Amino acid sequence: MSKYTAMEKSALNAEYASLKDSFEAYKAQGLKLNMARGKPGSEQLNISNDMLTVLTPDTDFTSDDCPDCRNYGNLTGLDSARKLFADILGVAPEMVFVGGNSSLNMMFDTIACMMELGNSGEKPWKDQGKIKFLCPAPGYDRHFGVTGYFGIEMITVPMTKNGPDMDVVEQLVSSDPAIKGIWCVPKYSNPQGITYSDETVKRFASLKPAAKDFRIMWDNAYIIHDINDTPDTLLNIFDEVKKTGNEDMVFEFCSTSKITFPGAGVAALAASEANLAILKKRYNFQTIGYDKLNMLRHVKYFGNLEGVIAHMQKHRAVLEPRFNMVLDMLDKELGDLDVASWTKPNGGYFVSIDVTEGCAKRVVALCKEAGVVLTGAGATFPYGNDPKDSNIRLAPTYPPVEELAKAMEIFCICVKMAAIEKLI
Ligand SMILES: Cc1ncc(COP(=O)(O)O)c(C=O)c1O
Repeated sequence: MSKYTAMEKSALNAEYASLKDSFEAYKAQGLKLNMARGKPGSEQLNISNDMLTVLTPDTDFTSDDCPDCRNYGNLTGLDSARKLFADILGVAPEMVFVGGNSSLNMMFDTIACMMELGNSGEKPWKDQGKIKFLCPAPGYDRHFGVTGYFGIEMITVPMTKNGPDMDVVEQLVSSDPAIKGIWCVPKYSNPQGITYSDETVKRFASLKPAAKDFRIMWDNAYIIHDINDTPDTLLNIFDEVKKTGNEDMVFEFCSTSKITFPGAGVAALAASEANLAILKKRYNFQTIGYDKLNMLRHVKYFGNLEGVIAHMQKHRAVLEPRFNMVLDMLDKELGDLDVASWTKPNGGYFVSIDVTEGCAKRVVALCKEAGVVLTGAGATFPYGNDPKDSNIRLAPTYPPVEELAKAMEIFCICVKMAAIEKLI
């Protein structure tokens, strides 16, 4: 089929009528399909079930630095768990704080801590009047949610294929002392699956912020989440900031949410000595220690980094065909029509698609009508406001494969319908 933009109005009308028939036929099936949230499906969750039997009543509950993992204590986590995360992140174990089950929770707490206590000898963020965060977009909606919760103003920074537009980042960060932070998902970004180029990482490490207390929130949620034979590589941010003397500028986060269980994994952050000292001031009051049995379970189950990497191959086996199916379907159905463009990630959890400008909300609404729930249009932008109303995040991991195929068929029909509605 030729490009919609090159078609006569009569041909477009005929195409629309045919699409509408298919749409109504799907609608009549009363489907309930969901491609909204990036969570693992049950096949993926089952991969880690053996971890549940690693601990038994006969287990030796001592662990290097801990006489009994069932008891209170060890605020920064078991040494063995800190070592495992240090190896995943490529940092020294002393830099790692192992927390509860959610890295998002640790990000929230980190911002709360900066709000209350401040850093680098500056006043707490809450006492500095209006403060701002840079938000590369499309981005992770929950980052924007946390920022909004604290009343921090969000400034959108465009994403390029190499990561955030660093010309914009450098200009803003070096000129405005009210800018206190930036959200980054440096590998297989949510939702575009973009990995920051070496140059981008180096430019981050070399930032010269106007605010001494500016911090980079380096959310490495998909650090080892490759899905094919051509994985991306990411420079180690802490290696780079060591070279530029900017060690205090970065908080790095990750978790096993997409390695073992999102509801019962282990999260960790890495930070400089000075930053850890500030966080501990808060954490000391917040808890006597996180779930060390879960840390022990993870450490015993994986053994070491190689064990984690081998485990990720099992996830890849489940995810690769799903992503291929989504991408093949987009190519086949939309490839020639000039109505959308999309990313082809080598890892992570999402495919990001830009439909005809002004059509994203309409596509999401049409899909809903036909029984397919998508992430809300605009969710990938600060304040839920996609200025072009064009970006939609597809999450291929959760639905069973047959449902995913059907949801994608419906999605493609809706993208085409919305595009034709715009054209005629
Ligand atoms: C970029 C990113 N960061 C963090 C999270 C949540 O991580 P956690 O489960 O460790 O809180 C997600 C979940 O989708 C994510 O996409």
